Amino acid sequence: MKETAKNDGLTDKQTHHRIIIIHRRKTAVLKIFLTHSLVLTRNGTFHTVSCSRTQERKRVRMRFSLKVNGKTRVVDVSSSTPLLYVLRNDLELNSPKFGCGLAQCGACTVIMNARAVRSCTVTVERATNFEITTLEGLGTSSSPGPLQQAFIDEQAAQCGYCINGMIMTAKALLDSKPNPTDPEIKHALNGNLCRCGSHLRIVRAVRRAAQTRAVKQQSS
Ligand code: FES
Ligand code: FES
Repeated sequence: MKETAKNDGLTDKQTHHRIIIIHRRKTAVLKIFLTHSLVLTRNGTFHTVSCSRTQERKRVRMRFSLKVNGKTRVVDVSSSTPLLYVLRNDLELNSPKFGCGLAQCGACTVIMNARAVRSCTVTVERATNFEITTLEGLGTSSSPGPLQQAFIDEQAAQCGYCINGMIMTAKALLDSKPNPTDPEIKHALNGNLCRCGSHLRIVRAVRRAAQTRAVKQQSS
């Protein structure tokens, strides 16, 4: 119920006193909002943490062990560092690209435990318990993986900036659904933006990779 100083039975002095108490309570609540962050606990309740403590924690460098492309890599960064920055700046894995930094374009996509995720919005701390695969883990320029080869064969890249995200998203799709229909391919790639308009060739490349894989499986 909304707290109010209105009460007909009170004298002017009592009403004035009551207004001061309400004002103090509101100021105290406002102060907490300005100086604290709300943190969700495991059991679903919230508790407050001082912002200065949160900021301090963000600045402190810590050691994290990541499993990337089948290898264990150790980095020394603050816990809130986006995985994308760690991959590019600390591990020199430059396939994931910075596009928007807001999980909107898909250029930074990597695979974490079989799921395509936007590495710009995953912190390094959160990524520690996952198997991470980047485009580098699918093949090299001298020995491209089947999906990479399909993109080359279909000449699916124009500027190439979106292609990391397209291939990694397609890889997660084909691993879970080896023979997707065109609408399924389009739906999976829906959140990956290509400013060059290479979409038709990209869809053809994913279809080609699926067909090549099916043929290989039949002949083996
Ligand atoms: S940079 Fe991550 S989605 Fe755009
Ligand atoms: S090929 Fe240029 S953004 Fe997609």
